[in-house]
Amino acid sequence: MSSRDQFTSKIGFILAAAGSAIGLGAIWKFPYMAGTNGGSVFIILFVLCTILIGLPILIAEFMIGRRGQKDPITSFKEQAPNKPWFMIGWIGLVACGLILSFYSVVGGWILSYILRAVSFSLTGQGVNFSTLFTDIISNPWEVLIAQAAFMLLTLFIVQAGIKNGIETASKWMMPILFLFFILLFIRSITLDGAMEGVKFMFVPDWSYLSGDTLMLALGQAFFSLSIGVAAMITYASYLSKKEKIVTSAVNVASMNIAISLLAGLVIFPAVFALGFSPTEGPGLVFIMIPAVFEQLPFGGFLLLVFFILLLFATVTSAIALLEVVVSIGIREKTAQRKKASWLLASIIFIVGIPSALSFGILSDITIFERSIFDFVDYVTSAILMPIGAFLTSIFAGYYYSKKISREEMQASPIVYNCWLFIVRYVAPLSIAAIFINKVFFS
Ligand code: PFF
Repeated sequence: MSSRDQFTSKIGFILAAAGSAIGLGAIWKFPYMAGTNGGSVFIILFVLCTILIGLPILIAEFMIGRRGQKDPITSFKEQAPNKPWFMIGWIGLVACGLILSFYSVVGGWILSYILRAVSFSLTGQGVNFSTLFTDIISNPWEVLIAQAAFMLLTLFIVQAGIKNGIETASKWMMPILFLFFILLFIRSITLDGAMEGVKFMFVPDWSYLSGDTLMLALGQAFFSLSIGVAAMITYASYLSKKEKIVTSAVNVASMNIAISLLAGLVIFPAVFALGFSPTEGPGLVFIMIPAVFEQLPFGGFLLLVFFILLLFATVTSAIALLEVVVSIGIREKTAQRKKASWLLASIIFIVGIPSALSFGILSDITIFERSIFDFVDYVTSAILMPIGAFLTSIFAGYYYSKKISREEMQASPIVYNCWLFIVRYVAPLSIAAIFINKVFFS
């Protein structure tokens, strides 16, 4: 155990955990999900689900991971011998592998954009951003090569190990990304007609309130906090006993909400001001971001820098996904880390091929009325993640004695009792209710 790396500082851990959480979920998925699900209502539900259900489960995952100091399966086996709780680890393995299979497709799109941004062919006269996006994602060779390149990048970083790779880079890339978003926000909000976008985000149209929207908002909260799939358990297993997990979790959740809202505040004012549609789907950010940069001086150059930062945010999340799969895959056999990483990354790449092609040559294939890409996304964020999160909250709430959880949490009695009430009742009951409502009533 002592040979396992640990994070050298608290800020290193928070940034790495935040780096794993903040990625395409906040920047790419959140705006398009909000755009296709009625804006404000989805956003309100997402924020509520993040604070009331996601955050307490994040605390639970940090607790379980740090207490175990091992990969999730071994950790559950040691903490609950002869009980089936380790299944949470297996759910995590499958879910993280599936998420990475389509995450790497989007990572590939970013690489494609970077390649074009280098030659400044994304900005300037006459570029139709919607057509450009469609051309890129429907070109089978381009998407596959880009997806493979993205997987390789992730693989190399995971092999470099925890400290050298993730921690150093997170420290300065994430704050710069944040500053970029502020700059974009200022440009977007000062466009003529921008207020319509702000209204779209904050003035609720309750006709969008439905079981489906609730389920999608819950899935979005889980997806963007990386919970329910043992990822945060894996990260916290590298965390030293000295750290306060509540503060870390609150930081991660609030940064995540802030970036999601900021991404929305960049995208939606521009959508309305520049005459686009919020229901554009997965292309929304890829179409709108270049459109906003076009309104800025040195737009072509700044766009290139932006996509490099976005690539970074995406890679830090992809690393977490691969890290979970690899750490569960190898468990104690650390000597086989390299071989296992290559093997698992190759499998994930192959599983991702149909998703990559589902915007082009496989676009006619649908599963339960969804494209292949959408279906894999839906199965993971709306089904597997909530199941994993449900089980995690039951484990922390009931299996752990109060003595253990109180000792791990190191929080004031009020904070501790609120947390316990949520993981025992609020979180599991709401997840179950949202599921039952979706399956039987909508
Ligand atoms: N939270 C990441 C994002 O929002 O982009 C996605 C993710 C990463 C989900 C790691 C799950 C995970 F284990």
